[in-house]
Amino acid sequence: MKIAVVGTGYVGLVTGTCFAETGNSVVCIDIDVNKVNKLTNGEITIYEPGLEKLFLRNIKEDRLHFTTNLEEGIREAAIIFLALPTPPGENGSADLKYVLGVADDLGKIIKPGDYKVIVDKSTVPVGTAEKVKATIHQSALKAFPEGGGLDGAFDVVSNPEFLREGVAVEDFMKPDRVVVGTNSERAKKLMSELFGPFVRQGNPVIFMDERSAELTKYAANSFLATKISFMNEIAQLCERMGADVDMVRRGIGSDDRIGKRFLFPGIGYGGSCFPKDVQALVKSSNEVNYDFKILNAVMEVNETQKLHLLPKIKKYFKDDLKGKHFALWGLAFKPNTDDIREAPALYMIDALIAAGATVCAFDPEAMNNVKQVVGDKIEYAENQYAALKNADALIIATEWNEFRTPDFLKIVSTLKNKAIFDGRNLFDTTAIGELGFHYESIGRAATN
Ligand SMILES: NC(=O)c1ccc[n+]([C@@H]2O[C@H](COP(=O)([O-])OP(=O)(O)OC[C@H]3O[C@@H](n4cnc5c(N)ncnc54)[C@H](O)[C@@H]3O)[C@@H](O)[C@H]2O)c1
Repeated sequence: MKIAVVGTGYVGLVTGTCFAETGNSVVCIDIDVNKVNKLTNGEITIYEPGLEKLFLRNIKEDRLHFTTNLEEGIREAAIIFLALPTPPGENGSADLKYVLGVADDLGKIIKPGDYKVIVDKSTVPVGTAEKVKATIHQSALKAFPEGGGLDGAFDVVSNPEFLREGVAVEDFMKPDRVVVGTNSERAKKLMSELFGPFVRQGNPVIFMDERSAELTKYAANSFLATKISFMNEIAQLCERMGADVDMVRRGIGSDDRIGKRFLFPGIGYGGSCFPKDVQALVKSSNEVNYDFKILNAVMEVNETQKLHLLPKIKKYFKDDLKGKHFALWGLAFKPNTDDIREAPALYMIDALIAAGATVCAFDPEAMNNVKQVVGDKIEYAENQYAALKNADALIIATEWNEFRTPDFLKIVSTLKNKAIFDGRNLFDTTAIGELGFHYESIGRAATN
């Protein structure tokens, strides 16, 4: 099948590459000339495990192409995916200017009689499929007033994306489920055909109406964010009541009504999705006169949690961080990605600098992205141990695997104080206590 993907960021590039991998002919379109040039030259623009191999293979097999020209990119496509940004607008609701902007452009270039399915893959508020449809129609009417619009020439489908950064290829190639919102039988048939190879093991393609599909995505992300904030509040209680959150987590996670996943406390959720999607659902709720109380609390808990380690650090240094120097392990909002959008580490950096401290950071993949945002406000180390040089303490903000079993002797010999503040609960408190560290984590007793 011929596919076009408009927007070649995290979702667009994974989507385009994985569709090419199952034999489709894919054109990815982006307005960022630099990005398109790099991709055309076989240079991958994001770090995502397993993606580069598929990306290079499909370019070589001539199934994956890149362009900045929308008209050329969609010309032969039967299905056009919109994987465009939907950042928070001024009031926190999802800003649809990118999605509706492209819809407007599509209205000018889709030809009557050349049926196309336009798929919202971006996370968009309920009612967006209708807005996209109306925008395409109006734009077509304006462009060709005598043509009478594009009735029947296209369908707009909602197909929210559930991939997780860090395991995006695996999630896309073997999704737990595919949600498709459409009432058009013609579109349904094409979407079934396209997703068939991805659900051969029997996972469902769930068809529903557009509005339910749109809400499904927000409900999924908001529920997961709620689970995280809930556990972060349990961790707060553990610290105050002398309980151990690891024990509580295991105790409740073995109940399959609750499940083991998303029960790890930490320094808050970040990333390009949870913060904006929770906020957008609250805004959408307000617009229909509903106060989504739980989600307001979820956001409030997350704000506090991002800086949960700070009072502990301040207390250890007797409330004076001026002139103190910290090693920071981890910048990405989670491991196995270079994405730093809303990363808790960035909030930690700002707070430390505001308190008069300096920071030397290391992250296996995200340092270049952080350099573009933070610049030389902090130092960057070549590896995790180099970051420890002259540091008064170590702070851990991302649970990269390589931080889990470090060489503690090296840490001891380099750090000025045997102090670790761990926002991701990487180490066993007994073992690290025996090594003589002052170790503070989330929801567990401090050692020494
Ligand atoms: N990142 C994730 O893990 C994830 C997961 C599920 C859903 N989503 C949703 O998918 C959507 C895209 O997210 P992302 O993380 O891929 O965003 P992104 O910012 O990484 O990528 C968006 C791309 O769209 C391009 N673009 C902007 N305007 C354009 C235009 N007019 N024409 C062509 N290209 C244009 C940008 O240059 C950029 O490359 C968002 O709605 C997001 O909420 C993201």
